Amino acid sequence: MTQPLIQYEDVHKSFDDVEVLKGINLEVDPGEKISLIGPSGSGKTTIIRMLMTLEKPTSGLIKVDGTPLWHKEVNGKLVEADEKHLRKVRGDIGMVFQHFNLFPHMTILKNCTSAPINVQGVDKKVAEERAVEMLEKVGLGNKLDAYPAQLSGGQQQRVAIARSVVMRPKVMLFDEVTSALDPETVGEVLEVIRDIAKEGEMAMILVTHEMEFARDIADRIVFLESGKIAEEGKPLDILENPNSERLKTFLQRFRSNF
Ligand SMILES: Nc1ncnc2c1ncn2[C@@H]1O[C@H](COP(=O)(O)OP(=O)(O)OP(=O)(O)O)[C@@H](O)[C@H]1O
Ligand SMILES: [Mg+2]
Repeated sequence: MTQPLIQYEDVHKSFDDVEVLKGINLEVDPGEKISLIGPSGSGKTTIIRMLMTLEKPTSGLIKVDGTPLWHKEVNGKLVEADEKHLRKVRGDIGMVFQHFNLFPHMTILKNCTSAPINVQGVDKKVAEERAVEMLEKVGLGNKLDAYPAQLSGGQQQRVAIARSVVMRPKVMLFDEVTSALDPETVGEVLEVIRDIAKEGEMAMILVTHEMEFARDIADRIVFLESGKIAEEGKPLDILENPNSERLKTFLQRFRSNF
């Protein structure tokens, strides 16, 4: 049996006294692609922000490659992890947000080399080669010296994806990365994600409202409802033969799209 890359074990999360995640159990295998779907407020963003160490779970365990993320083992006991441990484990994780927040004062190339050079200690020349190769792959090989403000939203989002992928994470998290884009640029960004997914090595967790995309790209779709995983399975089973009324109702809203 392969060791899962990501494990959520009975993870709960409350904000103040409101519990928004109510016992999440989820495993993601190396290279596996998961689409996370569910109504607004069901907790999708919170699930992936905890993996990116941007939110701390209230209880439960999250493991990356078998290593607890938010905890550290000391004398056989799990204690709260320090910043150094969090940074180390988080090194395997990349995330692309809805708003791409590129560094505005850096060229596109620099945006893609600064973290590999300054955080990962990659040699400058190697980092530049990797960045150029990746930027060419996302169709921006002719924009290396441009600044973010000179690019369209879709182009900026493709840079944000390239910037994350050059770090060679084991898992990439995408949170509705097309929802802030003009409709005409959505397709080009989804295409880039599809291409990266096809290469296969990286696991992905994608939060998306694009059901056709979710179906095409995912090995498994996970449906979240009110802070719990209500249903999960192969894309066709989930989308064509949903069990619960809630999932049926949820999918009806997208019927015209796929
Ligand atoms: N920092 C926060 N403080 C307080 N409540 C929060 C915070 N972040 C999220 N919540 C609440 O947690 C719940 C889950 O939010 P989350 O953003 O994870 O949902 P989502 O499924 O991503 O929704 P959407 O589809 O609208 O992005 C919501 O009720 C939200 O209001
Ligand atoms: Mg969200």
